[in-house]
Amino acid sequence: MCGIVGYIGTKEKKSVILGGLKELEYRGYDSAGLAVMTDNCGCGSDIAYFKAVGKLENLEKKTANFTSKGFGVAIGHTRWATHGKPTEINAHPHFGEYSFVTHNGIIENYKELKEYLEKQGVKFISQTDTEVVVHMFEYLNRSEKDPFIAFEKTIAKLVGSFAILIITKAAPDKIFFAKNAVPLIVGKSDEDEIIFSSSDAPLIGLAKEAIYLEDGMYGVAQMGEVKIYQQKKLITCTPQLLPADKSYAQKEGYRFFMEKEIYEQSQVASETLMGRIKYNKINLEEINSQIFDDIDEIVLCACGTSYHAALAASYLFERIAKIRAKVETASEFRYRDPVLNKNSLFVVISQSGETADTLEALKIAKNAGLKTLAICNVDNSSIVRLAGNVLLTRAGIEKGVASTKAFATQVLTLWMVVLYIAQIRKTIDEETLHSEIKALLHIPQVLNIPDGLHEKIHRMSKHYLHGHGFFFIGRDIFYPLALEGALKLKEISYLHAEGYASGEMKHGPIALVDEGLFTVALLPQNVLYEKTKSNVEEIAARDGYVLTLSPLEFELSDDFIKTSKQNHAMSEFFEMMVALQLLALEISIRLGNDVDMPRNLAKSVTVE
Ligand code: M6R
Repeated sequence: MCGIVGYIGTKEKKSVILGGLKELEYRGYDSAGLAVMTDNCGCGSDIAYFKAVGKLENLEKKTANFTSKGFGVAIGHTRWATHGKPTEINAHPHFGEYSFVTHNGIIENYKELKEYLEKQGVKFISQTDTEVVVHMFEYLNRSEKDPFIAFEKTIAKLVGSFAILIITKAAPDKIFFAKNAVPLIVGKSDEDEIIFSSSDAPLIGLAKEAIYLEDGMYGVAQMGEVKIYQQKKLITCTPQLLPADKSYAQKEGYRFFMEKEIYEQSQVASETLMGRIKYNKINLEEINSQIFDDIDEIVLCACGTSYHAALAASYLFERIAKIRAKVETASEFRYRDPVLNKNSLFVVISQSGETADTLEALKIAKNAGLKTLAICNVDNSSIVRLAGNVLLTRAGIEKGVASTKAFATQVLTLWMVVLYIAQIRKTIDEETLHSEIKALLHIPQVLNIPDGLHEKIHRMSKHYLHGHGFFFIGRDIFYPLALEGALKLKEISYLHAEGYASGEMKHGPIALVDEGLFTVALLPQNVLYEKTKSNVEEIAARDGYVLTLSPLEFELSDDFIKTSKQNHAMSEFFEMMVALQLLALEISIRLGNDVDMPRNLAKSVTVE
């Protein structure tokens, strides 16, 4: 996810901005940039800017001979590409004739705004959604002749998520800022300097307190003063004490990155959906819709958690898009001389985009002349570069080795592809399509963790520290979710856990059931409730210890997590997913394990 920093004061601006961006490195990025406004020569303000692709060291090298003395304002940015490749031109800050902008988030209606501005003669140079902000600001300032009003009007035109900072020669001592659905914090030092950032880490050491801006807030800052507005009214916000520990701040108060990433899922799911649903239709502009012409099969190929996302999606491809779907483990696919059908669309799913087995499988499919699509979280990764078409999952950097938010966004993206095909091929009627889209848009809400759930799971987790293993069971899409729940638990707790299709229990696994075996049963209301329930009863009858996740009370459970009544199976899927992630997390913490860096595992498996 992008990072944003701003500064008003008399310290050396470049160093402050680079220092702040360093603190935001943990968010992940593929290019960086900064702009500094100074009055070095005493003959009026001037803005110097620098951009570099790759690590911050590259930006440091580019700015090595640049310093700024005295008072000035500056903004900086680390970019995680969403619209347009990670190039210098697409890196922030973006500029107009006399102003510079940095932005986190996605401007959903940038195409409409860009078209309008182009008709007014404005020239764009980047492929980003952000550039529209600075041009709109300057365009409006031409008539308004008041940069604050021009900024206010610009913000009012934006649809989407944004944390925005603008500096402009039209108001050389100020930073204009706005926040909606993306974090933005502002602090004031004892020397009246003003510091903006996406998270509190860059502020620590410079300011003691900060204001955590809320959605819809915007304003203007100058030395010693921050004016915050909401709905055109000047408001007063109470600053909060900043944490003293930077690594704690990077985790934004959570104990582990995995925990933070579980809590981020609602927000990143909104980013995944953003701009991809318009007027009640799925709108995947990033891919060529012709890739679905003449396709009679989808082959989904991945490893680990990404494989589970693929498996879950395979049910949806067949049920909703009425297209045959096959799921391949990439490491097996590579060496089994697969017979490939030219009418297959080969879809690889990967968080990192660097998994060796998945990459090699993609090469095989490409060489065989198949159309290819990558569902990936990291732009410019090897898989993204190789695939014919790409959909980025937009989960932001995932630091915890145990994948959580990447999985959620993979399933969400695949579900959108399913609906896109269904829409093109009319395999479902309009009414069903609309209710599917409604359900899709509801997922960010489902991913909000309800009050008390985490605490309940924390308390419950002490029941699961002994015994001889775990079964996770479910049917239909809840079978891949059971596999994922078991994988999460084994990765970070080192306890033995297996996922099974509930109906398979009596074909062998049930022989292991006794009072020392824990079964985590996924019992959704919307999918084969009675059938799964009778499988769980069979386990309870053999004295197995059962934890049930269900919206309906189940008296035979030893432990019970009551999920909400949802009218769509996918809502139940995502709600149970969060509970399984928290269960794995809490058991691992109780066992004293390093949640973020479990033994024997690497975040990116670039060897086979
Ligand atoms: O980056 P990828 O999605 O291609 O990675 C695939 C697996 O290595 C990965 O999902 C792994 O299973 C995770 N550690 C699961 O939490």
